[in-house]
Amino acid sequence: MVKTRTIDLGDTELFVSGDPHATWARLRRERPVYWNGTGDGDGFWALTRYRDLARVYRDPATFSSEQGTVMGGSYRSGADSASGQMLICSDPPEHRLLRQQLHQGFTQEMVRRVSHRVAENVREAVDRFVAAGGGDFATEVAPMLPAGLLRAVFDLDHDQIRHLLGLTRAMIGHRDPELQTGRDESMTLVGTQVEILDLFAELIEQRRRRPGDDLVSLLLRSEINGRPMTESQILYNCLNVAVGGDETTPYTATAGVLALIEHPEQAERFRRDADLLPTAVEEIFRWTSTNAYVRRTATRDVEIGGTLISRGQSVTLWNASANRDEEQFPDADRFDLARSPNQHLAFGIGAHKCIGMNPARAEITILFEQLRSRGLRFALAGPVERLRSNFMLGIKHLPVTVTR
Ligand code: HEM
Repeated sequence: MVKTRTIDLGDTELFVSGDPHATWARLRRERPVYWNGTGDGDGFWALTRYRDLARVYRDPATFSSEQGTVMGGSYRSGADSASGQMLICSDPPEHRLLRQQLHQGFTQEMVRRVSHRVAENVREAVDRFVAAGGGDFATEVAPMLPAGLLRAVFDLDHDQIRHLLGLTRAMIGHRDPELQTGRDESMTLVGTQVEILDLFAELIEQRRRRPGDDLVSLLLRSEINGRPMTESQILYNCLNVAVGGDETTPYTATAGVLALIEHPEQAERFRRDADLLPTAVEEIFRWTSTNAYVRRTATRDVEIGGTLISRGQSVTLWNASANRDEEQFPDADRFDLARSPNQHLAFGIGAHKCIGMNPARAEITILFEQLRSRGLRFALAGPVERLRSNFMLGIKHLPVTVTR
């Protein structure tokens, strides 16, 4: 079970005692449109009901992404140079034009290539893990998923992959002392972003000289309104894909293994029934809700659930809460690998719905099918260590033993 812990939101702290899902359930029941003040007259709205999230996600004209989608800096915040250039922090019409270009890289062929690489990586990593009788699943097996993706999408070599994975991990984990690379959290955040952009700038130069069939080469060939994409558009969107791809699936995979450990009857059912795989994967996405929330900024005064939200205020959409909303999911607090239907919001919804959803599904499917078909049983072998982050529900260490 989750121990008492704090979820800090930007400069404020939302204290969550015991199971955070109990707090979110209370907010859904009693204060579904909740103002979290910061004491200086500022603050943000927290929406926790499925129906409110679905409405806001679908109205980008009223709820803008241009000021950034995370509280307190990760990705981008404020209307900085990435606004309108990077998918995740742009609004229509720029968002649609950028997304059309990026979409050309997210094809069935891309998913096939990712699947091939990931299957290879996972097989080798699980072989080693089983031979050793276990280890830290979070650091020894889970990173094999984004490693396969980076190889397939950007055609990076082994050293580049290791380097980039370290940078994105530190960027998203910049609040966590274990992952900090600079003097402090803000130096880590700034420093890692600069290094990631440098890495992609170098890659752009290489691909200009020798184009391939990777995403950078594709974006170099792309045009928006008859003009080539600018270098900064390409850089920011490579950063977006790298961070989105690296820092989600490994945390989902690790939290999925923990969910199986905590629900042995579901794990047993899963081992016995191969047909459960597709619904099991969706339930893992719902249950783990790795992206706890996304942020929007109101572009006008607007009412939600009888509460007035003023123009310019921050509105946070709690996927982790909506995915346990009883109004949408019967018996929502039950981890049920056969759950169907399961229209979870782990990938968001509407115009910004995760562009990497298909490769992410493929990665999680490949991993859990490997674990299932080998009849593996996991047991905790030490404390579960969670990432200190205000938006990523991540497990950074999961020591386990594994037996057949
Ligand atoms: C467990 C896996 C994943 C989860 C839970 C997840 C979650 C999300 C969510 C909630 C959004 C919507 C953000 C918003 O509305 O502001 C999003 C967008 C995005 N994701 Fe993912 N993601 C995952 C995997 C991936 C992968 C594998 C990639 C890249 C290969 C990726 C790249 C992106 C990008 C580029 C966007 C921005 C899309 C846009 O703004 O149009 N994600 N993701």
